[in-house]
Amino acid sequence: METLVALCKRRVFIFQSSEIYGGINGFFDYGPLGAELKKNIRDCWWSDMVRRRDDIVGIETSIIMHPRVWEASGHVAGFTDPLVDCKASKQRYRADQLFFAQVVVDGRSVGYVSALESERTAEELTEAAETLKRKKAVQGKLEPLRIRDMTEAEPGEIPLIPSPATGEPGSLTAPRSFNMMFQTNVGAMTDASSVAYLRPETAQGMFADFKSVVDTGRVKLPFGIAQIGRSFRNEITPRNFIFRSREFEQMEMEYFIHEDADWAKCHREWIDWCRDWLLSIGLPQALLSEYNHPKEKLAFYSRGTTDIMFRFPFGVQELWGIAARGDYDLKQHEKFSGVPQVIFDEATKRKFIPHVIEPAVGVDRIVLAVLCAGYAEEEVKDDKGSSEKRTVLRLSPRIAPVKVAVLPLLKNKPELVARARALYKRLQRKYAVFYDESGAIGRRYRRQDEIGTPWCVTIDFETIEKDGTFTLRERDSMKQRRIGDDELLALLEERVY
Ligand code: GAP
Repeated sequence: METLVALCKRRVFIFQSSEIYGGINGFFDYGPLGAELKKNIRDCWWSDMVRRRDDIVGIETSIIMHPRVWEASGHVAGFTDPLVDCKASKQRYRADQLFFAQVVVDGRSVGYVSALESERTAEELTEAAETLKRKKAVQGKLEPLRIRDMTEAEPGEIPLIPSPATGEPGSLTAPRSFNMMFQTNVGAMTDASSVAYLRPETAQGMFADFKSVVDTGRVKLPFGIAQIGRSFRNEITPRNFIFRSREFEQMEMEYFIHEDADWAKCHREWIDWCRDWLLSIGLPQALLSEYNHPKEKLAFYSRGTTDIMFRFPFGVQELWGIAARGDYDLKQHEKFSGVPQVIFDEATKRKFIPHVIEPAVGVDRIVLAVLCAGYAEEEVKDDKGSSEKRTVLRLSPRIAPVKVAVLPLLKNKPELVARARALYKRLQRKYAVFYDESGAIGRRYRRQDEIGTPWCVTIDFETIEKDGTFTLRERDSMKQRRIGDDELLALLEERVY
C-alpha cells in the first residue's frame, strides 16, 4: 500500500485534501490522472448500467434532501457506529474494530491486552499477552485467548482493557452510538428547525423520486433507477487510503420488481452482472470473491445481502454490496410522506408497492481496487539487453487515464514532430491522449507504463519516408509492431468502449 500511495502522490493521481494546511483526515483530492481514471470508471458504469439497457433510467438528486427523508429511511435513528473514546489520548475508536482478550495463566487472570483490527490482530494480541505475562513475572501456561471486540466487553472489564494509544488500562469509555451523518443548517437560522444532513447514501434519492419517475410513463416493471453521486459519512476511523473516507462517491441502482417476482433469482442475476462488470474493467477473477451476510445479521426487512469482496493488500474487503431490500424503503416513504408509492398491476388490476434489489458500490473503492490489482514492479531488459526495473500499472484500456501516448522519435526533426502532432490532434477528438517528445524513447515508454497507458505510438523516419506506418508498443507485453492510422483507430474502437 505504501508504494502505491507514493506512486499516486508522485504521479498526482490521488492525494490528501488541503495538503498545504496539513491535510484533513478522510478527505482526498484527485489530480489530473486520478480524475480521468475516476471519470472513466463512472462513464463505463453509466454506459453499461443506464445507456446500454432499456430497463434502467438515470437520475441525479440533490445532496441535501428534506430531513424527513432520513427519518423515513431510518438513518436518523439507526445510522450509527459504536464509538469508544480514550480519555487520556483523545483518540477515538470504532468499538467493533478494537479487539481485546483477557490474559489467563493456569486459570488465573493476569490482565487484559488490546489491538486494533488488522491482518495481524490475533498475532498482536498473543504477543502482547506473552509480554504481559513476562512483565508480571508469572509462571505457568498461557491459556488460549478468547478474542472479542469492544462491543462484547462486560461493563466490569472496560476499566481493565488497555488503550491502544497509551498501552495502559483505565482510559477507555464504554461504547456509545455515534450517528455518522454530517449535519448542517439550511438558511439563516441555526436552530433545530433548520437541521439538514449531507446524504450518507445516494439510494434515498431514487426512492424519494420513485413516484416522479413512474409518472413519466417511461418505465414498466421490472425497471431500475440509477444514480452516481457524492455521499458523506463521518466515519470514526477513516483508513486504508481511499478505502474508507468521509466524502466519497457512490454508484447505486434500485431495481424495482413485482412483489411476487422471484427475488432470489433477480438478486443472483445482479450479483453476476456486477461481477462481470468488474471483470470488464480489468479486475482479475482471482482477486474477487463473494460473501453472503448471515441471516441473523441482516436488517429485519432485508431478505439477503451479498458482497462482492476484493483482495486488497490490507485484506479481503467489501467492494460492492448487492442487497434484496424488500419493499421497506418505499413503504417507509409512503408512511412518512403520505404519498402512495404504488404501481398499478394491469394483470391483476391491483396496486402494490414494488420490491427492490440494490447493487451499491463506491467509485473510490473501485479506483483503489484497479490500482492495487494493476500495480506491478518487474525486471525487464532495456535496449542494450541489461536488466532494469519497470513499474507498470496494468489498467484496462476502458478505464486507463491516457489511452495512447504519441511520441516523435526525435524532437529536433520538424517532419517527425509535425506528423506526430497531426496524429495526436486526430486521436484527441475522441480519446484522452498524451504527446511526449522529451527524453530517450525507452524512458518515455517507462513513464507511460507507470501511469497505465496501454499503447504508445512512435513516429519515426519510416513513417514519413515509407508507408506512413508507425510503431505501436503494447504496455503489458512490451511487444512492438508496425501499424497505420486506420488500424490504430480500429484497435481503439474495439478496446475502449
Ligand atoms: N445504499 C446502500 C449503501 O449505501 P453501503 O454498503 O453502506 O450500502 C455501498 O455502501 C458501497 O459504498 C460500499 O460497498 C462501498 O463500496 C462504498 N462505501 C461505503 N462507505 C464508504 C466509505 N466510507 N468510503 C468509501 N466508500 C464507501
